Amino acid sequence: MDKAAIILAAGAGTRMKSATPKVLHQVAGLPILGHVIQGLRGAGVGHMVVVTAPDAESVRAYAASCGAMSVVQEKQLGTGHAAAAAGAALKNFAGEVLVAYGDMPLLTGQAFEGAFSARPKGGLALVAFHAADPGHYGRVLLEPDGMLDHIVEFKDATSAERKTDLCNAGLMVAEAEKFFAWAAKLDNSNAQGEYYLTDIPKLAKTDGARCAVVLIKESEALGVNSRIELAEAERQMQARLRDHALRGGVTMTAPETVFLSHDTRLDADVEIEPFVVFGPGVHVKNGARIRSHSHLEGATVAAKAIVGPFARLRPGAAIGEGAHIGNFVEVKNTTIEKGAKANHLTYLGDAHVGEAANIGAGTITCNYDGFAKFRTEIGAGAFIGSDTALVAPVKVGAGAITGAGSVITKDVGPDALAVARSTQVEKPGWAKRFRDLRRKKKDKN
Ligand code: UD1
Ligand code: MG
Repeated sequence: MDKAAIILAAGAGTRMKSATPKVLHQVAGLPILGHVIQGLRGAGVGHMVVVTAPDAESVRAYAASCGAMSVVQEKQLGTGHAAAAAGAALKNFAGEVLVAYGDMPLLTGQAFEGAFSARPKGGLALVAFHAADPGHYGRVLLEPDGMLDHIVEFKDATSAERKTDLCNAGLMVAEAEKFFAWAAKLDNSNAQGEYYLTDIPKLAKTDGARCAVVLIKESEALGVNSRIELAEAERQMQARLRDHALRGGVTMTAPETVFLSHDTRLDADVEIEPFVVFGPGVHVKNGARIRSHSHLEGATVAAKAIVGPFARLRPGAAIGEGAHIGNFVEVKNTTIEKGAKANHLTYLGDAHVGEAANIGAGTITCNYDGFAKFRTEIGAGAFIGSDTALVAPVKVGAGAITGAGSVITKDVGPDALAVARSTQVEKPGWAKRFRDLRRKKKDKN
């Protein structure tokens, strides 16, 4: 059967105290909504409809960038009302539909798959979890055979119902046509005066449909409603990503100090020293070593290269095999070929550094004139003297040398030496005469 999903994301999210809609806050460098969409896609869901608040243009733009449709829920009258709002977008859809909340970044593709495969023919599947502290979650009550009896919201529950630790995670699957027919029958006669999604199973049962319950781990069911929960989701996601890297053959001496992005790719035998931060879009290949206090984003590091300590790789940095990027070196939109070295205090932006070139300490590519960016080309085997300013656009030929302290404004030919600094002047005995004169003056006073 074709699979679709409705993602509810129209809630006000007031507890975040933020100008950014809740579902666009990031966990491991990806918006919370992005995690939900990725998980669903991983479970083979083809059509997705995100339910948004009228003023949430940024959420609709993000959904579109992920290939999901969106609809507007004009008034936030409850989760059941929100799911019904997706009906128009799925009018001609004949498959099964899963309803999920947009604020649950830790759900995995398996949780969604589990929900689809547990659904009895013609019936419903509901995802639940055992909570250490059930708090205000909706309670899930079972029949003796383990099928769902009913869900009751905390505010409507009796004290006996509140005693169960089995809670509603907020995922439900049904055939689309039936689901929307049940959703149209929801009412709001409850403690909160809302149209509850959680009343759907009741309506399904009066139609003779059965409802299976699948369990997930509590850690997957975390919903983000506040910055505290956002930090907790980040903590758990980091633990998951580190675990995945370690199992994949990466060495981390202090994994708890390494921060990864949702898409960080670390090949086998990569070594990550303590206190390293990975922004999105990084791939580090076999045997490379990322030393302490480095920050990488949008970069690739080839096999056996060494980056850091205290290095910064910005988007478009491509570090070649066995190359060295040392302390206080920043690389942006620059390819560093095999075996090249920039070991200390350098900025390389919009540049190409040829194989085995050596970039001296304090080298700066002056790539920006306040209006546009310009390129610097450094040939293979070139030797850039310490404290060279390369005023782009400029080329230094293969095997060329620049003298320390040079300001290079013109292209340098292959194997040439370019020196662009004032000539040294030496005045014999001047320093001694100067000191003698000063001392005499001081003694007089
Ligand atoms: C809901 C469930 C509860 C479950 C809990 C799990 C209902 C009635 N209750 O409660 O059983 O244990 O989640 O976290 O479903 N939303 C809209 N439009 C609305 C209202 C909500 O789009 O009119 C969206 C929110 O943006 C959010 C999701 O629906 O993503 C859940 O809403 P929320 O208010 O957080 O529901 P809970 O009270 O947490
Ligand atoms: Mg909630």
